[in-house]
Amino acid sequence: MTAVQSATSREATAFSAALDVVGEVEPTVASAIRQELADQRSSLKLIASENYASPAVLLAMGNWMSDKYAEGISGRRMYAGCQNVDIIEQAAASRAKAVFGADHAYVQPHSGIDANLVAFWAVLAQRIETPVLADFGTSNIDDLNEAQWAELRSKLGNQRMIGMSLDAGGHLTHGFRRNISGKMFDQRTYGTDPTTQRIDYDEVRRLAREFRPLLIVAGYSAYPRLVDFAAFRSIADEVGATLMVDMAHFAGLVAGKVLQGDYDPVQHAQIVTTTTHKSLRGPRGGMVLCDNELAEHVDRGCPMVLGGPLPHVMAAKAVALAEASTPAFASYAQQIVANAKALSEGLLQKGTSLVTGGTDNHLVLMDVASSYGLTGRQAESALLDAGVVTNRNSVPRDPNGAWYTSGIRMGTPALSTLGMGQAEMTEIAGIIHEVLSATKAGTTTSGGTSKVNYDLDAKVRERAQERVKELLDKHPLYPSIQLG
Ligand SMILES: Cc1ncc(COP(=O)(O)O)c(C=O)c1O
Repeated sequence: MTAVQSATSREATAFSAALDVVGEVEPTVASAIRQELADQRSSLKLIASENYASPAVLLAMGNWMSDKYAEGISGRRMYAGCQNVDIIEQAAASRAKAVFGADHAYVQPHSGIDANLVAFWAVLAQRIETPVLADFGTSNIDDLNEAQWAELRSKLGNQRMIGMSLDAGGHLTHGFRRNISGKMFDQRTYGTDPTTQRIDYDEVRRLAREFRPLLIVAGYSAYPRLVDFAAFRSIADEVGATLMVDMAHFAGLVAGKVLQGDYDPVQHAQIVTTTTHKSLRGPRGGMVLCDNELAEHVDRGCPMVLGGPLPHVMAAKAVALAEASTPAFASYAQQIVANAKALSEGLLQKGTSLVTGGTDNHLVLMDVASSYGLTGRQAESALLDAGVVTNRNSVPRDPNGAWYTSGIRMGTPALSTLGMGQAEMTEIAGIIHEVLSATKAGTTTSGGTSKVNYDLDAKVRERAQERVKELLDKHPLYPSIQLG
C-alpha cells in the first residue's frame, strides 16, 4: 500500500482544517482546491509526467518555511536567520546523494527547466569561463577590461551541444531555437533509427565526431525505451564533451533501482538534472546532481540563474526523497514498468501500433494516426470524454506536426501510485482501444477532413465512463480525505 492509498483520518483532518482557514480569507481558492481533488478523483491519469504526491509531501509545503529568503547555499547565505532552511536543504541534498549515489546534489531549482539552465550555466562556467579568466590572470570577472570581457562573452556564446530531436522524444530545453538553450548553444540533433525507432548510437557518435560539441545531452520526454548512458559517456569522452542527462521523466526508476548499470545516468554522466514531481513522486520542483568538479558552479545557481530558493518546497523534496529511499518505493518503481508493459501488451493485442513496438520504461507512445486514422489532438479529446487523461505527442517524423501530432503519450506512474496493477492496465488498454475505434475524424466547415473535430459514439463513451469509474472506485485517491 502506498502512502497515497493509506492516507489516514489525521491527514484528512489536516487538509480539511487548512482549507477552512484558506476559505475564510478567499473562498474561491478553497473551493477550487476542493474541486481539484474531486476532478482528479474522477478520471484515469495517464499523463506520463504526473503523479500523486503523498500527504506528507503536500503538507511539508504548506507552511511558514515559505516566508524565508535564503539566497546562496547552506553555510553561505546572503540573508541571516537561515538555520532551519540550512537543516532542510542539507537533509534534501544528503537524501538525494544517498538515493542516487551522486557526489553532489543541488536541490534549489524550482522546476526541471530551471535545473537544466543551472546545468548549462555550470558547464559553461567550468569549461569556458574559469579557464578564460585564468588565461587573463584572474578569477574575478569584474577584473576584465572591455576587450577581455567581449572575448569571454564571445567564447561563452559560441559553444555547441547535441540533443535528442523533439519528434524522437527530446525536450525543448535541449538546445532548440525557440528555447533560450538554443540561443545559448549552437545545437544539432540526433534522432532515432527510422526502422527500429530506437536511438542509433553509431549515428550519435558520427554526429559528435563531426560537430565536436562541448555538451552532449541525453534524456527525453517521450522515448519508451532504455537509454545506454555508458555508450553516451564513451561518445562524450571521445570528443571531449561533457555528458549531461536530463532524467526528469525517469528519476523514479533510477531511485527505485529499476535502471541500473549502463542505464543508470548518475553513474555515467558528469551532470544530471531532474524534476522531482514526475515518477519521483515529490513536490513540483527540480534538482541537479553532479560530479565534485562541477559542484562549485552548480551551487551558484541562485542568484546567477535562479530566483531565491523555495524552502518549503525543499522541505517537501527531503520528505519525498526519504520516501524514495524505502523498499516500498523500489517495489513501486518496478510496478510502474510492469504496468507500462501490461498496457503496451494490451494495446498491441488489439492491433494498436506503438512507437518502437513496446516499452521498457514508464511510458507508452501510441501512433493513433496509423492505428485509428486520428490525429493526436482528436484522440486526446475523445479519451478525455471517456475519462482517460493523456496527452498528444509527436511520433518520429510526424506527418501531423507538433501541434496536431499523430501520437498519444501515456505513462503509468500515477495509476501505479493508486495501487493499480497489470490486470487494471489490460482493462484500460481495452477501454482505450474501444474508445478510439469508435471515434471518427470530423469535417471542417469547408467539408475537408478536420484534424480537430471528431465524433465519438455516445454509447461507447458512456460504457467507457462506467468502466473508468469502476476502476477508480476500487483504487481511490487519498481515500480517507473527505472534504465536504
Ligand atoms: C525531459 C524534461 N526535462 C525538463 C522538463 C521540464 O520540467 P518542468 O516543467 O518542471 O520545468 C520536462 C517536462 O515536461 C521534461 O520532460
